[in-house]
Amino acid sequence: KNIVILISGSGSNMAAIVRAAEQGRWGERLNARVATVVSNRADAEGLRFAKDHGIATAVVDHKGFSSREAFDEALMAEIDRFEPVLVVLAGFMRILTPAFVAHYEGRLLNIHPSLLPAFPGLNTHQRALDAGCQFAGATVHQVTAELDHGHILAQAVVPVLQGDSAEDLAARVLTQEHLMYPRAVAEFLRNLPL
Ligand code: GRF
Repeated sequence: KNIVILISGSGSNMAAIVRAAEQGRWGERLNARVATVVSNRADAEGLRFAKDHGIATAVVDHKGFSSREAFDEALMAEIDRFEPVLVVLAGFMRILTPAFVAHYEGRLLNIHPSLLPAFPGLNTHQRALDAGCQFAGATVHQVTAELDHGHILAQAVVPVLQGDSAEDLAARVLTQEHLMYPRAVAEFLRNLPL
């Protein structure tokens, strides 16, 4: 069973999922592997980690396409070479077209650094601080055509501490993301028909 992970940057969530797979934390029966990591940026740091772990990588640079539709079609072609049972967005910073989302319906997951439905979109940690939230966190959800919506599969909660900067909060949340996302992927795989 192939999993494809899409990244744009540091790829620390992708790395957490790869490590979980390598360590057999999903159990033998799941028999799934991260087949490829695809980035829309050639300079995404996570590509190095993937290569070092023997995973195929590809870059589909959105700047090389005249429309979102054309970019998404190229992305789909790259992904579908591996016939994945699951496509995982991990810090993938492009808005996807309805056609892309429909193509992977039911097998497309994202992690978002807020307790959805609060704070969809960008700058989630600063917005949580500005609102005076006492708790923040992250959400793993199914991807639908509407940004940062879709059925919630898992959430992790952290406290907001006195004097936190957005960076402090982001780091505290990210640590929890690294625990939650591999677990949510495992759970998703367990629920697949055999
Ligand atoms: C994470 O906070 C994730 O929730 C958000 O972007 C960040 C990606 O970090 N979507 P990384 O690339 O996984 O290190």
